[in-house]
Amino acid sequence: MRNPHAGAPFDTSDEEIAAALEDVSIPTLMLSMVHMTGDPSIIRGDLRPVASFLNEVQGFMSDEDKAEVRARALDVIRYYRDRGCPEPEPLSAELVHEMMQWLVVEEVGDEYVPMMLADLELDGVDRDLPEAPTDPAAADARAEFPVVVVGCGQSGLLAGIRLQEAGIPFTIVEKNAGVGGTWWENTYPGARVDVGNHFYCYSFEPSDHWSEFFAQQPELQAYFQGVMDKYGIGEHVRWSTEVRSVTWQEGSATWDVVVQPVDAKGEPVGEPETLRARAVITAVGQLNRPSIPDIPGRDEFAGPNFHTARWDHSVDLTGKRVAMIGAGATGFQVAPAICEQVEHLTVFQRSAQWMFPNPNYHEKVGPGVRWALRHLPFYGRWYRFLLFWPGCDKGLEPARVDPDYPDQQRAVSELSDGARAVFTDWIVGQLGDDPDLVAKVVPDYPATGKRTLQDNGSWLRTLTRDDVELVRTPIDHLESDAAVTVDGVRHECDVIIWATGFHHTRVLWPIDIVGRGGQHLSEVWGERPAAYLGMTVPDFPNLFLMYGPGTHLAHGASLIFNSECQMHYISQCLEELADGGHRTMEPLPEKLEDWHRRHQEEMSMLVWSQPSIEHSYFKNSAGEIHTVMPFRVVDYWHWTRQMDPADYTFG
Ligand SMILES: Cc1cc2nc3c(=O)[nH]c(=O)nc-3n(C[C@H](O)[C@H](O)[C@H](O)COP(=O)(O)OP(=O)(O)OC[C@H]3O[C@@H](n4cnc5c(N)ncnc54)[C@H](O)[C@@H]3O)c2cc1C
Ligand SMILES: NC(=O)c1ccc[n+]([C@@H]2O[C@H](COP(=O)([O-])OP(=O)(O)OC[C@H]3O[C@@H](n4cnc5c(N)ncnc54)[C@H](OP(=O)(O)O)[C@@H]3O)[C@@H](O)[C@H]2O)c1
Repeated sequence: MRNPHAGAPFDTSDEEIAAALEDVSIPTLMLSMVHMTGDPSIIRGDLRPVASFLNEVQGFMSDEDKAEVRARALDVIRYYRDRGCPEPEPLSAELVHEMMQWLVVEEVGDEYVPMMLADLELDGVDRDLPEAPTDPAAADARAEFPVVVVGCGQSGLLAGIRLQEAGIPFTIVEKNAGVGGTWWENTYPGARVDVGNHFYCYSFEPSDHWSEFFAQQPELQAYFQGVMDKYGIGEHVRWSTEVRSVTWQEGSATWDVVVQPVDAKGEPVGEPETLRARAVITAVGQLNRPSIPDIPGRDEFAGPNFHTARWDHSVDLTGKRVAMIGAGATGFQVAPAICEQVEHLTVFQRSAQWMFPNPNYHEKVGPGVRWALRHLPFYGRWYRFLLFWPGCDKGLEPARVDPDYPDQQRAVSELSDGARAVFTDWIVGQLGDDPDLVAKVVPDYPATGKRTLQDNGSWLRTLTRDDVELVRTPIDHLESDAAVTVDGVRHECDVIIWATGFHHTRVLWPIDIVGRGGQHLSEVWGERPAAYLGMTVPDFPNLFLMYGPGTHLAHGASLIFNSECQMHYISQCLEELADGGHRTMEPLPEKLEDWHRRHQEEMSMLVWSQPSIEHSYFKNSAGEIHTVMPFRVVDYWHWTRQMDPADYTFG
């Protein structure tokens, strides 16, 4: 069978190929040429990228150099086409490493190579495919090992795919009526990813269909729907059904999972039911339960008001005075998307946000790029690498605290100060002659102190409109037709949009998870949720968490990548349980203690935990962070590669 990433054979005309080459990433094209020809000299001459930067996919090559490459590529591609588009011969490991470093113009350390190779899949092998059972008895044991998965966002869907491949029966319970989680619920205008979609997708399910480099919500939901249909996972899902509690039964070594059918608003309809499972995988996300602050007078407001993750599409905003309360990543996308429609928009923002320059954030994917993704050998894989590498662990560098650096309120290190300068220039460059607005929008805490937003200028353009006002003064209370700020000013409005984020620190809430000895996980955790590798908890046997505590990402990669790490590991746990004939497994308490201690030590040295970040959804009421991952992505990948049975007690 042809390597799925080798590109579909084509008979495209010379003219069409030449037109396609006008759109493509030239450094990526050159690597595809190496595959087509087997000739490494293509990347050993003067034509090469000069630097790499997140989302800059031309390697800062000059127009002349790019034109020269296009001319050479046309010959190479024509010849390849005329030979019938044969599957390229595999390249040596040394050459692939050279290609990695060439593409990103820097060293790709040896520890990164296996991770990048697994993600690149140049040999067409999906390294996360669960091991097949070694004998018929193991296959039978798996068939008698039912698993319940809670949630059908990207994590739950992935769990279903891998369980199916492993031959383990499963039921996914999902409170919504459809797949996608975040990308099902967040239908607000302007909702889109901030991680390029050719990376923000499953490594084993690339898509050459994205119409934008950072796709909007409908396209993301459609992607997950398509993957679900392709793997036939939908028939295993109980839609519109919420898991209320999960209780361990010691005698049978099973979990009782109480499920409640619900309507679109989450209200119960019909009777609850109990499912029985040998293992439970939670895949409920960390940004799934909307949070609305308890501002006095909230119930007095007479007009429509709704959270961004519960967008009320029946409310026509045309000609309305709208107040948007909260402006983090979500508000940042909503305001530019609705400002033209509304009569007046008042944005209430408690903390200003740092933003990362990404001029192409709203750019469409041209037909040439799609053609290349579909047909040119391994173009899509290298393009993915080009997005992954600069967005991998580099974000940790400016986040790391140098305790000797002066003025920690301004910056936590020299690098952090450098990031501050770049981001500030980006902001001021857009606003120049408006010092009042500059003062309002330049954050007073170190750069990257929260999750940095992707920006193409649309946010500040919105704020400079006459019909948009940015209010940084706190709201005192709400009245029937206004938000009143603490300075006594009434900001009249017809509609309130709550862009106030999620109950992120309340991991797994509100599910009541009751483990061995009747212990409630919420009580064991209190405000300090912790799981070994973010996945397993002592006294909660055969319970596996995806996107669990300590695994939220603030510095790079993507949560789909993290889910793939986690499901790879969980598959090994389930195989060990079923094939090994064990009833239970749970991590050694000292393993979790060690993990959590290291987690907290690392976190204390990162900008997110610093007192200068006064408000952050990462922090619990004591100002500690237990939900976010402070570790390098490459470390997490290595730690989750091979489950070590010595870390666990088996029963
Ligand atoms: C608006 C928005 C944009 C984002 N953009 C990005 C981005 O660009 N890049 C990135 O890496 N991350 C982004 N994130 C984070 C995003 O949440 C993850 O990328 C990813 O979607 C998480 O997938 P998940 O399946 O783990 O969780 P979710 O997508 O949150 O899915 C969880 C699912 O569990 C279900 N569920 C929860 N509780 C229960 C229960 N008790 N019973 C039954 N079902 C339940 C929910 O209904 C939901 O379907 C974004 C988040 C938001 C809110
Ligand atoms: N792909 C994307 O671009 C994208 C889009 C949306 C969301 N996301 C993901 O989802 C995460 C959450 O984003 P979000 O915007 O929904 O939530 P958020 O970042 O937590 O932003 C919430 C906003 O509400 C404000 N707020 C919260 N409680 C408040 C209170 N009591 N009083 C006044 N203001 C209050 C916050 O102010 P403070 O800042 O002062 O706390 C902030 O402005 C992001 O970090 C990101 O991971 C990504």
